[in-house]
Amino acid sequence: MQRFGGEFPWVRGRRWRAHPWSRRVVAEQRLSVEDLIWPIFLQPPGVDSEPVASLPGVQRFGSRDLEESVAEAIELGIPAIALFPVTPNELKTEDGREALNPDNIVCQALKRLRDRFGDQIGLICDVALDPYTSHGQDGLVANGQVLNDPTLEVLAQQAAVLAQAGASVVAPSDMMDGRVAAIRQSLDQSGFSQLPILAYTAKYASAFYGPFRSAVGSAQQLGSADKKTYQMDPANGREAIRELQLDLVEGADMVMVKPGLPYLDIVWRLSEQASVPVAAYQVSGEYAMLMAAIQNGWLDERSAITESLVAFKRAGACCILTYFALQLASWLQTHR
Ligand code: PBG
Repeated sequence: MQRFGGEFPWVRGRRWRAHPWSRRVVAEQRLSVEDLIWPIFLQPPGVDSEPVASLPGVQRFGSRDLEESVAEAIELGIPAIALFPVTPNELKTEDGREALNPDNIVCQALKRLRDRFGDQIGLICDVALDPYTSHGQDGLVANGQVLNDPTLEVLAQQAAVLAQAGASVVAPSDMMDGRVAAIRQSLDQSGFSQLPILAYTAKYASAFYGPFRSAVGSAQQLGSADKKTYQMDPANGREAIRELQLDLVEGADMVMVKPGLPYLDIVWRLSEQASVPVAAYQVSGEYAMLMAAIQNGWLDERSAITESLVAFKRAGACCILTYFALQLASWLQTHR
């Protein structure tokens, strides 16, 4: 077809796609090591590192390997890690009081890492009771109910204990109503007014946490129970906006969506509306799915992992918690 002297189609999206150099010029997003937060599992003192069967390539770190791996993460330029304890069953109680022990697994790791690495890497710690309760719920339980307001008091204390031990950021992952305000107040009163709160704002009652729960040993405690009375229904998007508004009013400094890939619409909605940075968590089940397909030879490792992560950036996430952090960071070093 002749028109304006040109040949149809005169608008051609493929022009920029034609060369590696031009694709690089027009790429809207670029993954960088700065985007990555590495979640790490901590063994009890004296227990050696062990692989996690449902998360191929992921270790529960004993203390020596922990320091080596964190040194490696720093070397690669990873800005922060998130610490999760594997609490021995004999320390788990109805009220999860081990959460408040200033010498618990997380606090010991915080002190060691701070001593050795100072402020070279951010140390993010979950605030929730599930690693410490005999029933595996994130809060206190009475008559089969997870209690909201009594739990807030414990979470507020837990946050102060973590801050005292050297946490750089506290991350309430419990989904109790009012926890951000309770934690803010507690931190301010105990001299940590500068410590940021990363709220798990839209945390869904998801099947994709399965491998994490077996990694930290809370699956056994939870049994056939679920967390649906506090974590969100996967069917709901509007409700995430409400949680966002509440967390912002209560003083959250960063908000998070979890899981990640199945909830990219939520990442997008929050990133459009939030006045603070939005993080996303590519959770254990997402990692397990990708690794299972990769190990079967059904997906190409590097391109599938990279694509899954750049999608978070396109959706508006400022950073991604991912078990692929170390792997991706090392690929980014040996660029192209
Ligand atoms: C604890 C917590 C969970 C995860 C992070 N913090 C599990 C849960 O809520 O049951 C899941 C992370 C993952 O699956 O990678 N509240």
